[in-house]
Amino acid sequence: MAILITGASGFLGANLAHNLSPTCSIIGTYRNKRPTIPGIKWGSMDLTCRDSVRQVIVNCNPTAVVHCAAQANTERAQSHPDEAIRINRDGTRNLVESLPNECYLIHVSTEHVYDASKSWFLETDTPGPVNEYGRTKLLAEQEVRHFEGDWIILRMALLYGGRKEYRLCFCDCIYSQMKQGIHARLFMDEFRTPLHVSDVAIAVQAAIERHPTREIFNLGGPDRLSRAEFGWILAEETGLDPNLIEPISIDSSPTIAPRPRDLSLNSGKIRSCLGIRPLSVREGIRRAYSCSPT
Ligand SMILES: NC(=O)c1ccc[n+]([C@@H]2O[C@H](COP(=O)([O-])OP(=O)(O)OC[C@H]3O[C@@H](n4cnc5c(N)ncnc54)[C@H](OP(=O)(O)O)[C@@H]3O)[C@@H](O)[C@H]2O)c1
Repeated sequence: MAILITGASGFLGANLAHNLSPTCSIIGTYRNKRPTIPGIKWGSMDLTCRDSVRQVIVNCNPTAVVHCAAQANTERAQSHPDEAIRINRDGTRNLVESLPNECYLIHVSTEHVYDASKSWFLETDTPGPVNEYGRTKLLAEQEVRHFEGDWIILRMALLYGGRKEYRLCFCDCIYSQMKQGIHARLFMDEFRTPLHVSDVAIAVQAAIERHPTREIFNLGGPDRLSRAEFGWILAEETGLDPNLIEPISIDSSPTIAPRPRDLSLNSGKIRSCLGIRPLSVREGIRRAYSCSPT
């Protein structure tokens, strides 16, 4: 089985490629710099160029595609909305239009499609993104729904963990700051259900085996936490000084993109449909730092 992972040079794509490569034949795409991941084949692809997307699909004829590539930077998407539309919406359209109907499409979406008006969002809640990133990712979902073959959409929570030789995540930045004795200013009023990146590979593998179709799934961890609470668990589990965590309010640190306060996901549907059990934050941090990064 050949699985194409778009955006395999990014944080999620690289970790997925790494974790799936022992059991599947993986082709990864990159746009700028090709990373080194043992055992995977590569294709260069620019999502905004239909010919480039078609060429990769024709060359590798995948059984399944995990579409990770995106403009995933919230601040950049807010300040460059036209670029975000081109990559996230139009790029997804280019992919959908290039895929043969026999291919299974697993589309990676985000918690940011929700409107932050409550806690523990369900897939049946009406989306209402509050920033350009969420808006363009919701438009991408609408492109996926036009695909005539089988598809699922995974609306993922904030990700952490992963291998340190690939792109790092927010948690690694906090860790390395604290390790140097630098205070980490973390929001105490921004709530998420963080997901260890290895759980994405488990969910993708289960989806490929069980093949649900035309379904949207939330995919988050079991704990609803603020960033500051996440930081305190990180400190506790890694033996760093918890006093280095400085809890602050979202209001005290303005950003270009509106920051939704609560995007916690209820992931009961995917847990029962695919039989997966994502790690708690404490378990995930233990796994992420069993070999401490430098
Ligand atoms: N990280 C999270 O916490 C999180 C949470 C929820 C959902 N997600 C979703 O997960 C996916 C991956 O996110 P990430 O954090 O791994 O992002 P990332 O590290 O920024 O990686 C983005 C990937 O997309 C590729 N890309 C960007 N523009 C492209 C273009 N025009 N054509 C082709 N490839 C392009 C990048 O390639 P180059 O680097 O080679 O340019 C890179 O491989 C996204 O769909 C995001 O919405 C992420």
